[in-house]
Amino acid sequence: MEQPTVENTSPTESTVPPSNPPDAASDRRTFLKKIAALVVGGIAVMVPLGAGLATFLNPLRKRIGSGGAAEFIKVTTLEALKDDGLPHRFAVVADKSNIWMTEKNVAVGSVYLKRKGDQVVAWNTVCPHLGCQVDVVAGGSFKCPCHNSIFKPDGSVTAGSVSPRGMDELDVDTAALKDGEVRVRYQNFIASIAEKKPSS
Ligand code: FES
Repeated sequence: MEQPTVENTSPTESTVPPSNPPDAASDRRTFLKKIAALVVGGIAVMVPLGAGLATFLNPLRKRIGSGGAAEFIKVTTLEALKDDGLPHRFAVVADKSNIWMTEKNVAVGSVYLKRKGDQVVAWNTVCPHLGCQVDVVAGGSFKCPCHNSIFKPDGSVTAGSVSPRGMDELDVDTAALKDGEVRVRYQNFIASIAEKKPSS
């Protein structure tokens, strides 16, 4: 009787793949290196790009009022300002720039100027309550027509007014006054708060 043959079913090197083939590990390392290079390269590009963008937009930030960045603007001459201790209104005219263009000699606002000898005090004409234009009334006081806030001749707010603070006083270039020029650091401020804070 013929004996049945028994097949050898034990695994051989050629039929069972290795659990972690060397080629796959190498491919994974290469892939990870490429990802790392992409991340580092991306950061290297984005940092200067961000800095460049900030510089590019800088004129826009200045235009919309970054507070401390405002420069002195010539408003009038000392000779043209009456030395009567009363506030007089003057337009503020300046070049207005954004990232695309510059407009020459544009009215950007107005100020009250009060002269006493060679000293000049300046206020923004905008009411600190909600932004109406403040008027001058008898005796050199100020009154807002919108909600009747009253400001004393020194710009401070009177009791009972709704304005949360006095008129916004502006810096005057004292060096320029010696040369007969009235130059003011024209700024706008956030309305409806007690603190005098430049708007941005
Ligand atoms: S806006 Fe001036 S009192 Fe209200």
